[in-house]
Amino acid sequence: MKIRIKTLSIAATIFLGAMAPQQSTAQNPAQDAAAGGHERLLMDFGWRFHPGNDWGSGLNLTKAASSSGPAGAKFDDTDWRKVNLPHDWAVELPFDQNSDTAHGYKPVGPGYPANSVAWYRRSFDLSAADAGKRLWLEFDGVYRNCDVFVNGWFVGSHKSGYDGFRFDITDVANYGSNNVVSVKVDASEFEGWFYEGAGIYRHVWLEKTAPLAIAPDGVFVHGKFRNNVPRGAAEIEVEASLLNTLTNAARATVNCEILSPDGKSAAKFRRAGQIGSGAMQPVNLSARVSAPVLWSPESPKLYKLVTTVESGGKIVDRMETEFGIRTLAFDATNGFLLNGRRYPIQGTCNHQDMAGVGSALPDALQYFRIAKLKEMGCNAYRTSHNAPTPELLDACDKLGMLVLDENRLVGSDEENMRNLRGQVMRDRNHPSVFAWSLGNEEWGSQGTASGAASIRTMQKMMHSLDPTRLCTAAINGSYGSSGFITVLDVKGFNYNLSSIDPYHRDHPGSFVIGSETASTVTTRGIYTNDLQKGYVAAYDDITKTKSGSLVNPVTWGETAEEWWSFYDARPWLSGGFAWTGFDYRGEPTPYEWPCINSHFGIMDMCGFPKDNFYYYQSWWTDKPVLHLLPHWNRAGMEGREIDVRAFSNCGEVELFLNGQSLGKQTMQKNSGLKWMVKYAPGVLSAKGYREGKVIAETKIETTGDPAAIQLAPDRPAIHADGEDVSVIAAQVNDAQNRMVPVATNNITFEISGPGKIIGVGNGDPSSHEPDVYLAQLPFNVITVSGWKWEQAADAHRADLPELGTNFDDSAWAKDNVDAESGPLEPGQNGVFRGRVTVTGQDLASESVKLAFGRIDDDGWVYVNGQKVGECHDWQATPSFEVKPYLHEGENVVAVAVANIGGSGGVNLGVKLRVREKTVVPEWKRSAFNGLAEVIVQSTGQPGDITVTAKSQGLADGVVSIRAESAPLRPAVAAN
Ligand code: GAL
Repeated sequence: MKIRIKTLSIAATIFLGAMAPQQSTAQNPAQDAAAGGHERLLMDFGWRFHPGNDWGSGLNLTKAASSSGPAGAKFDDTDWRKVNLPHDWAVELPFDQNSDTAHGYKPVGPGYPANSVAWYRRSFDLSAADAGKRLWLEFDGVYRNCDVFVNGWFVGSHKSGYDGFRFDITDVANYGSNNVVSVKVDASEFEGWFYEGAGIYRHVWLEKTAPLAIAPDGVFVHGKFRNNVPRGAAEIEVEASLLNTLTNAARATVNCEILSPDGKSAAKFRRAGQIGSGAMQPVNLSARVSAPVLWSPESPKLYKLVTTVESGGKIVDRMETEFGIRTLAFDATNGFLLNGRRYPIQGTCNHQDMAGVGSALPDALQYFRIAKLKEMGCNAYRTSHNAPTPELLDACDKLGMLVLDENRLVGSDEENMRNLRGQVMRDRNHPSVFAWSLGNEEWGSQGTASGAASIRTMQKMMHSLDPTRLCTAAINGSYGSSGFITVLDVKGFNYNLSSIDPYHRDHPGSFVIGSETASTVTTRGIYTNDLQKGYVAAYDDITKTKSGSLVNPVTWGETAEEWWSFYDARPWLSGGFAWTGFDYRGEPTPYEWPCINSHFGIMDMCGFPKDNFYYYQSWWTDKPVLHLLPHWNRAGMEGREIDVRAFSNCGEVELFLNGQSLGKQTMQKNSGLKWMVKYAPGVLSAKGYREGKVIAETKIETTGDPAAIQLAPDRPAIHADGEDVSVIAAQVNDAQNRMVPVATNNITFEISGPGKIIGVGNGDPSSHEPDVYLAQLPFNVITVSGWKWEQAADAHRADLPELGTNFDDSAWAKDNVDAESGPLEPGQNGVFRGRVTVTGQDLASESVKLAFGRIDDDGWVYVNGQKVGECHDWQATPSFEVKPYLHEGENVVAVAVANIGGSGGVNLGVKLRVREKTVVPEWKRSAFNGLAEVIVQSTGQPGDITVTAKSQGLADGVVSIRAESAPLRPAVAAN
């Protein structure tokens, strides 16, 4: 290891108090860049990824900026796979029966060290004009435990996989030249009991601000009216925290303008303050907005606060913050009130993964999922059991969905409080967030004194950071006189319906919400329990196995009808959250392998509705709903009775088989109807009546065999921005274009035009088909071993016999090339020889690189006597393409090294990196009960994207999606 001083190429950070930014009226903060304003740049594109870790932690605890391996600036990552973010490597792994059931049988986490650590790297340029700005590298979420390096400097680490976090990289950035970010991600530990993914699965941003600017998450805008719906004008309060990293105190004015939902100016106000050097200081302002337009899920109208900071006669920062004007209140008699009116929570709990993409959802999928939930009548989303990605909240603000914003873990320790603080500071401007949930089913603490004390500390901090919202937590079973329930603003009940009335009787003044209910298990399109395949009938009845154990609902849960009619009958309850809106990977209750994902969803992993969707839609929306189940392809059941149900909000429903009435029944509120019908193929139809009039009709038909595939995109046009996606349903139809509800045809997908497939799914909870197909496989690593060394007279000479293949080195000393330092003394030369065996398959690969940790100081590298390259930088991690020099069997690697100072040699390991040929993957997925899904993403160029679905014996399905030119999000260019 070197102890002499090597030159670092880190430019000094200059604080330019007198920068000359100009006032900009641009909506987009990035357009202020030239003026020295606030830039928020997406860093999702152009990363390199390598699964596995051959380089240790990368941390060098002895010397700063001297991280080795991929953490170092000079590492050669050109043979790593290219990826864009968000990215989840767990979804790429095959299912493995031996791995964790609750996490969905993906071999990552405890017991799978080789699959659980990976590296990401990307480079980016900064202009010389960026010197003097403050630079933040911001991560919306990394699963999990990551170490982040910039230009070989360690800049920070973050453990939990669910928080946003940022590092100030101002000091270590290279201005006017290239920079490298390296992130080591270690998903070896679990945080939850559900699929959690692995990798940088949310966005990364580079933020640039002036040295005097709004602090990160520094704007908080809210109504002063609290629980009283504003009569006339609404008083709006703004707290703008300014951060002054100048070496002098500065006077600054915060200017605010509120734009109403129609874009017109609704208020302008300003306030000046003195900000000390190195200080962060809030500036408090307020204004009145007349005739406020209230936000609600039904009318999600957003205001915009434009905040500018003026100092020294110049605008130095500008920021836009969307917010909503609305009131939130809980009432012991009327439950939850929105804008002063009782507003029962018709909610669902959800995890964050989806078919095809794992936990790495492009933003458009957040909108897709929220829109699906709204279609069902859902008005609230619980982010169980972790902080959400900000884009989920954006979707909820814009589409209209309340959010119970939950954190991961209860605890008043420093780290937990820091994470929780970050969450509330980031999320508190979102009008959709109506309450905070501080935890879920904390069996170890929810009933204890220390649990109560921890919750008290957490809740106190939440109140101080956000006086506009109350806190709850999801409690299961400790409803007595100790623990969380004695402290929380709002008492969250998970399941346990029988405990709710007694609690209310004893605590009539308490606010109560159903933080989690249902846990009904159903499989889309399945009407008999199937233990072998791991399917549960979609009737949502109380069903048991032959041995008597409860299948549906789970022992702790309730059917949809049970829980909703209970909550709906009690106006003092605030409504509740069904577990869950969508199926998710893991928790395959009530089964295990081969079942790999949950059945709790009201929709499956793809967002295809199960029958219960229509139960909720009947009672959660006002539109006429009439839905029949099961399907009517029941060959072999002729003459036998079939249990037919109707979900509807019509007053009466009449059922017909092949045109013949089977009777009219009256619908009870919050219920469904049932007929036993002797099966005959044909048409099962129904009419729904309200006050004697037919207001809805539906039918299900016995179909013919599969004949064609029909493709239906959720959106026929997407933005040509490299981010937007269209979710395409592939439906197997018979010759009369009716979906065949039992079809399982294998489908392959082809794509042309400016789009790419990023994932496929079908909602089958027991499918082991891949969700993703990779074009580039990770490379195989082969260690070059058996190293020996000997001093040499001259390292520069190419004709040294020691460099040849057949040289006898048996008498040489052994060398440990994995060590950080080598055996050479200052001024000494030596030759190092190692051996590596390769196969014919290795030689048939795309590339084979010989990669060194370090060669210290100068090195000349030979393979089988032929020179492959040289390296003259002891801090570099040189690698050389050596495929042309290798042969099947044993190969000799020889390195002549000249050491200048300190100790020298071949250090930090020598490996061959064998990269398989890049392939054009064939995307495929079988249909599950008639449906599959393919997710298509823009590649950035405008044009028509054509997707073709093929299956043997069926007519192709073809669809075209337009990728339309759209303003690109300001992004850091990918090098
Ligand atoms: C709850 C828990 C959820 C999920 C659910 C399944 O007790 O809070 O995370 O595990 O059970 O029914």
